[in-house]
Amino acid sequence: MTNLLRLENISVHFGGHVAVNNVSLDVNQESITGLIGPNGAGKTTLFNVISGLIAPDSGDIIYDEQKISSLSPHKRARIGIGRTFQRLELFNSLSVVENIQVSAEIRNQWNQARLQLSPTAIKSEVERILELTGLTSSKDRMVSEIPTGQARLVELGRALILSPKLLLLDEPASGQNEEETENFGLLLRRLSESGIAIFLVEHDMNLVMNICDKVNVLDFGSIIAHGTPKEIQQHELVLQAYLGANNQ
Ligand SMILES: Nc1ncnc2c1ncn2[C@@H]1O[C@H](COP(=O)(O)OP(=O)(O)OP(=O)(O)O)[C@@H](O)[C@H]1O
Ligand SMILES: [Mg+2]
Repeated sequence: MTNLLRLENISVHFGGHVAVNNVSLDVNQESITGLIGPNGAGKTTLFNVISGLIAPDSGDIIYDEQKISSLSPHKRARIGIGRTFQRLELFNSLSVVENIQVSAEIRNQWNQARLQLSPTAIKSEVERILELTGLTSSKDRMVSEIPTGQARLVELGRALILSPKLLLLDEPASGQNEEETENFGLLLRRLSESGIAIFLVEHDMNLVMNICDKVNVLDFGSIIAHGTPKEIQQHELVLQAYLGANNQ
């Protein structure tokens, strides 16, 4: 397994509150890495650190063998770090397809030859992503009118059209029903097999345990366990953290 992202001793404080405490972890290529933990454990904060929205108080972020700690969020997106948001960040007054097209246009403004697409190429890439995410038949619906489960797929589509090498997904199955979640899991597996490294924050334990290769567990900002889904499910500290927090 080749390493793509390495966090080394990352800490984040909000005032006197330690949201992330000396976290080190790895995300490998061609794999799905899970990040779970009770509400308020620091998962979204850690994603904000990786995508550059929050500067950590200490520690290093190493992506593709380079320290990226001082890069802006835009530069990180350009070098292949994509993400979706826990609270959906879509253009509600635009249709499904328009939301994805806007993202493609942003990509074309990036001054990087590998990412430039002709109008025809954008069109076929948008179509490919609509197909992949199962959104083709809903493409002309306004985002404000589609169910949350589908809106999650639009967010994923917006991230995918930027050709990410690493995808940070923050509770992407929230609002999806059981069948949607199962299909979503299969989609994530396919994306991972196509070469995208996926780092997944998710409360749906079935999904996490079914599709992740490795899982990290955060509790009160600290990693208390990491391992295969099987190892995590039997881990004493994990059981305590979840039962103690009355979560799940
Ligand atoms: N901008 C902020 N200012 C102050 N405190 C914050 C800020 N963002 C997060 N926190 C606090 O940091 C801690 C970690 O929050 P975070 O949102 O990262 O948790 P989470 O694991 O994503 O939780 P959830 O599962 O509910 O999404 C929480 O105690 C939260 O209240
Ligand atoms: Mg969160």
